[in-house]
Amino acid sequence: MDRKKITPPNIHIVSSEYQIPVIDKLLGRTTLKWQCDDGHCEQLTASLRFTDYEGNAPSFYSLTKLPYVAKTYFQAKRSPIMPNPVPFLVMDAIRYLGEMVKPDMKVMELGGGNSSLWFLSKGAKLTTYEHDIHWAQMVYDTVDKNPSKYNQDKFDLRVMKGASTLNDMIKQDDASYDIILIDSMNEFTRRNDCIRIAMKKIKPGGWLVLDNSDNPVNWKGAELLEGKDMIRFTGFGPMAFFVCQTTFWKM
Ligand SMILES: C[S@@+](CC[C@H](N)C(=O)[O-])C[C@H]1O[C@@H](n2cnc3c(N)ncnc32)[C@H](O)[C@@H]1O
Repeated sequence: MDRKKITPPNIHIVSSEYQIPVIDKLLGRTTLKWQCDDGHCEQLTASLRFTDYEGNAPSFYSLTKLPYVAKTYFQAKRSPIMPNPVPFLVMDAIRYLGEMVKPDMKVMELGGGNSSLWFLSKGAKLTTYEHDIHWAQMVYDTVDKNPSKYNQDKFDLRVMKGASTLNDMIKQDDASYDIILIDSMNEFTRRNDCIRIAMKKIKPGGWLVLDNSDNPVNWKGAELLEGKDMIRFTGFGPMAFFVCQTTFWKM
């Protein structure tokens, strides 16, 4: 699919629906609809059990990980914090990121969760922006109760959303982070806005990671990164039987 043929949403709300009940849900056939700045409407339909929004098939590696996807799917039904936490990214992206993260690397993430625990378990110095105080508390309590696994001193958890998050990000030193993962909920802190600021905060040679980069809602931000070295993964991630896309850009 050629992104240039579709005008992505700018600041407008994107609706997501299953048009044929039951069947679409089974196939994960999801229709996104939005209005563009000039008033015209666009829509995009994809069967997310089989491809990402851009029609890319899942990687072979992520297919081999389907038993793990199933295991974590059932674990997530029991508890949202996984027994062995991993980021909610495409399986190939978890592997790639896992090779990249080293102790004491400076990492920022927008949208916390199992990823926060995973970064901390690798010894990263982590700044997490999370909009939901209850979810943040759950993550923080897990860190607090497991000092042998997670070093609380390396965890800077900031509960804020929208403009507060963006203003706080701006105050961080330029070119000071090794990795920034953008995985926030767009309803609370738009990923496109985060990308614009994050680009300045990453060291030369560092990485910006965007999850759900196939979703048109995040394309405007991705456009800002055009021309940079990029690695893109499509496949299944833990905890859900949907195909998704995670992209890495080198700064
Ligand atoms: C895409 S998720 C971020 C996931 C996180 N970066 C990770 O990989 O674990 C966006 C938001 O959903 C919420 N969230 C994340 N994981 C959750 C879970 N397992 N259950 C409930 N809410 C979750 C948090 O508010 C988070 O900021």
